Amino acid sequence: MGSGECQDIGRRAFLERAAWAVTVAAVGSGAASKAAPVQGKASLVGFAASKLEKIRVAVIGTGGRGGSAVHRLCHVPGVEVVALCELDENKAKHHQQALKKNGFREPQLFIGPEAYKKLCESGVCDLVHINTNWESHGMIARYSVECGIHTMVEVPGVRRIDDAWAIVEAAEKNRCHCMPLSNCCYDEDAMTMINAAHAGILGELVHGEGCYLHFTRNLRSQGFQDANRIFSSLEALRNHTGMCYCVHALGPISLAMNINRGDRLEHLVSMGNKGFGWEMYAQKKFGPKARVSQIRFEANDFNTTCVYTAQGKTILLRQCNDVPMPYTRFNSIYGFNGTIETRPLRVAVEKKFDAGAGNFLEGAELDAFRAKYGSPLWRKDAATAKRIGGHGGQDYFMDFRWAHCIRNGLPLDMNVYDLAAWSAIFELSEKSVRNRSQAQDIPDFMRGAWKTTKPDTAI
Ligand SMILES: NC(=O)c1ccc[n+]([C@@H]2O[C@H](COP(=O)([O-])OP(=O)(O)OC[C@H]3O[C@@H](n4cnc5c(N)ncnc54)[C@H](O)[C@@H]3O)[C@@H](O)[C@H]2O)c1
Repeated sequence: MGSGECQDIGRRAFLERAAWAVTVAAVGSGAASKAAPVQGKASLVGFAASKLEKIRVAVIGTGGRGGSAVHRLCHVPGVEVVALCELDENKAKHHQQALKKNGFREPQLFIGPEAYKKLCESGVCDLVHINTNWESHGMIARYSVECGIHTMVEVPGVRRIDDAWAIVEAAEKNRCHCMPLSNCCYDEDAMTMINAAHAGILGELVHGEGCYLHFTRNLRSQGFQDANRIFSSLEALRNHTGMCYCVHALGPISLAMNINRGDRLEHLVSMGNKGFGWEMYAQKKFGPKARVSQIRFEANDFNTTCVYTAQGKTILLRQCNDVPMPYTRFNSIYGFNGTIETRPLRVAVEKKFDAGAGNFLEGAELDAFRAKYGSPLWRKDAATAKRIGGHGGQDYFMDFRWAHCIRNGLPLDMNVYDLAAWSAIFELSEKSVRNRSQAQDIPDFMRGAWKTTKPDTAI
């Protein structure tokens, strides 16, 4: 390499660093939409990292969710599980030995509350898959993107807006992926809905709805471990309220409505009942004098949040997980030309109404709709997804997709701006609930770049 070339690279790097410094200086954690637009290379819009033939993955948190991720990931093409990081050595060892027994490479263990730091600095992995409890997602994801490692974050994303900003800034600076593990975006019906919306079937969309209502078995019956102790996920509900778990409801709607791709979440209002379900359950099960019955939970039992978008659309989100009812999760979108609801898939189009038949598509018509807009992933490989599993196969497709994109040097289906915007609902819905449902501005994590970002194509 000649010295001129060397100087050129040095100058280019300097200019890039200078541009970066200007962008970051303009983006304080509270600077919602006043910040300067994100420029050129600083933005991660359409970002694709260099191709990796083999992706070395570390799973952080190997409890219920992380434990199943470990085994699922071993079957994802191009992925090798090289490390497990846990507080509890026995849990990690259990999965380590299971992998070994099944003929996979024995992953290295990183044990302890701050072992994720050592893991991120060790160079053993290209990507971390974060499956710890809600509280620590922000702290761990922040650290891993600061180390320049591709980072996948379990729902509900990160709890604090300053963590979300820090993750956006670090991912932009270090040019790494950071994606919410929003498995519900890979639900078969949800993918059909998203693809049909992108194909323009409903015309201009006006409204979206998502709900995640179900009886979280492990939060109620297992949530109270005994008369003295509560399960870790319940800890998160003691001092917080609002919509704490919005991603299953919001993720698919957000993609269908091109949020962060021509539109953005702009402000919200949130309302929830004065939660009492957890306390009543503890009293009923353990008696009023038990230690767990003295715990006050601030969380709403039922929360409803309405989001307004920059393009004047609305999104209604509902969440409840302590009222006995079967698992109910659906997403629906409403447009100028029709309506699509999921789980079960129901489609209504204006031309049918014009023809005097104002019903949802049925039989052969619905089958034809599915065939046309359903995802090729489900069409081609449903059997593999169902066999490897995870919520009927959607978890497999979620991991399959990011791995496929990274192996082929493609942008991911969801990005750090989605993680940040969806996560913001957490803190802002809580603020709204605590302030008589006052409207809360949602930060513009893309600093204007959403205006020129093109919608995604079908997957
Ligand atoms: N997408 C989905 O469908 C879905 C389903 C269930 C749970 N989740 C999410 O997955 C996450 C984990 O939930 P879970 O039910 O498996 O909880 P869990 O308590 O069973 O597991 C969490 C694990 O993380 C470990 N951990 C905590 N802090 C750690 C740290 N600093 N370093 C390393 N390990 C740490 C804990 O020891 C525990 O084993 C939660 O955020 C939850 O919201 C998502």
